[in-house]
Amino acid sequence: MGCSAGACALNLGHLKAQSKLSVFFTMILLFMYLFYCLNGYCESIPRPVYDHQSNHLQSRLQEEGLSAYNASQLARKTSHDLDNRLQPNNISIANIYGARKFPQAIIIGVKKGGTRALLEFLRIHPDVRAVGAEPHFFDRFYEKGLEWYRTLMPRTLEGQITMEKTPSYFITKEAPRRVFSMDRHTKLIVVVRDPVTRAVSDYTQTLTKSPGLPSFQNLAFRNSTTGLIDTSWSAVRIGIYAKHLENWLRYFPLSKFLFVSGERLVTDPAGEMGRVQDFLGLKRVVTDKHFYFNQTKGFPCLKKPEGSSRPRCLGKSKGRPHPQIPAHVLLRLRDFYRPFNLKFYQMTGQDFGWA
Ligand SMILES: *[C@@H]1O[C@H](CO)[C@@H](O)[C@H](O)[C@H]1NC(C)=O
Ligand SMILES: *[C@@H]1O[C@H](CO)[C@@H](O)[C@H](O)[C@H]1NC(C)=O
Ligand SMILES: *[C@@H]1O[C@H](CO)[C@@H](O)[C@H](O)[C@H]1NC(C)=O
Ligand SMILES: *[C@@H]1O[C@H](CO)[C@@H](O)[C@H](O)[C@H]1NC(C)=O
Repeated sequence: MGCSAGACALNLGHLKAQSKLSVFFTMILLFMYLFYCLNGYCESIPRPVYDHQSNHLQSRLQEEGLSAYNASQLARKTSHDLDNRLQPNNISIANIYGARKFPQAIIIGVKKGGTRALLEFLRIHPDVRAVGAEPHFFDRFYEKGLEWYRTLMPRTLEGQITMEKTPSYFITKEAPRRVFSMDRHTKLIVVVRDPVTRAVSDYTQTLTKSPGLPSFQNLAFRNSTTGLIDTSWSAVRIGIYAKHLENWLRYFPLSKFLFVSGERLVTDPAGEMGRVQDFLGLKRVVTDKHFYFNQTKGFPCLKKPEGSSRPRCLGKSKGRPHPQIPAHVLLRLRDFYRPFNLKFYQMTGQDFGWA
């Protein structure tokens, strides 16, 4: 009010120029913020969601052996809803600025306990990056040195956890000392399962590879008349959890361990995953939304398994021969394990319900 038409037009023009300028500065600020955040410099500020997405995608693609060019193409496709101006959303940034770090957490055991399933469940989490294969560094390849080990690790950005799993670490005598000398703060996850069913499952797997194997009872007993158990047979030895744990507790306090129930991983995967994520200091991202129960199979399945279009389910593989093991053999084995199981419950303060 109270201005001539010309003066008003002038004021309006002035205003337009001003808002253009502020948009320009806002863009510059946005640019700088994004660039810094993608480099991991603003750890306390939540990173933009697409950073997680593209980085997570990158890990998947790397595992599938796809080229970086393809990876960026795909990343762009998935983030098509993002503004084109957000050029820093270029996953090569993760490749350039991401670093290969020693694992902060290792799944150290046990064979046939459900370690593969656990790692696959964890992989859904955007803040977890894990080695695909089992590195076997602390048991087989320790001579190659820590730097060799580090090069096996995936690149991670700030705030992401590097992980690996090698179930034989738990039963390797030198492993505790070696892991300790890498990093005494390493978090250790052990997936345990009823040692009797574990032994049968272990034997069944070996049987598929070498069908000429002696019977279960021939291997389990040193003397079948007396019922003396052969503890040198690995299928039996692995299940003596208390003994192996004793070895680890010489180097690590109990607080560094998480014992995951292989049984509960099947009956309540989301609940067990909640414990794992809490232990790792992660947000509870993997929840019951990620699982469904296949009634036919009788096992839980992952809705979106990593690097596969097929649903990934826990539980027995189909088509494996199922050896008939006499009931008295299993009973004898159960008796054998009972004191070790009770000792293990006492050491861990957890009752796994096997004894
Ligand atoms: C993706 O990579 C594969 C193998 O390197 C190549 O054959 C294919 O042409 C690439 N696709 C695109 C879209 O770049
Ligand atoms: C990613 O960023 C680099 C460096 O800024 C650039 O050279 C490259 O072309 C970008 N790639 C894509 C797919 O945008
Ligand atoms: C098994 O134990 C019984 C009773 O002690 C003994 O007589 C037999 O010789 C043993 N068999 C073997 C193969 O050691
Ligand atoms: C459930 O399991 C059965 C048997 O393995 C399989 O044939 C079927 O496709 C599965 N269904 C779903 C929805 O995963």
